[in-house]
Amino acid sequence: MIAFTLVIDYFLHRMNLIFIGRYLGIIGTAVILLSFIYSLRKRKIIDSGSPKKLLELHEYLAWGGSILLLVHAGIHFNAILPWLAVLMMLIAVASGLIGKFLLKRASDTLKEKKNDDKGKNEC
Ligand code: HEM
Repeated sequence: MIAFTLVIDYFLHRMNLIFIGRYLGIIGTAVILLSFIYSLRKRKIIDSGSPKKLLELHEYLAWGGSILLLVHAGIHFNAILPWLAVLMMLIAVASGLIGKFLLKRASDTLKEKKNDDKGKNEC
């Protein structure tokens, strides 16, 4: 994620397009908000869309939006509040990644248990 951010930042500087970084704040926020469609589906506020696909979309959009916000934040330390916001966002991303790992482990364990039970019943 940091590598992606550095590459985008590098090219914006090389091409004299640093001003774009200012707008990436709005775009990044919009992309993350869009990723919350999954939450709306999970909580049955909307009915359409496969939860599995929407969760995948949530992961990609939240990840991509966070990169845009990191480029927007840049490597400037002028004020503490915006950096606290960036830190909170990074914590949310890290917790998302941990959640993804835990979900995969839980579903793998369930599959293993099912297979074990099947084996026992066949004996
Ligand atoms: C700015 C970044 C992010 C924010 C603000 C965010 C926010 C959220 C929220 C609010 C939920 C709860 C949905 C609900 O129960 O209604 C959630 C769930 C989840 N997110 Fe994220 N997320 C972010 C990034 C990520 C990333 C990068 C990943 C993984 C690559 C991820 C994976 C997940 C997973 C696996 C769940 C749990 C799904 C479930 O059990 O229903 N999130 N996220």
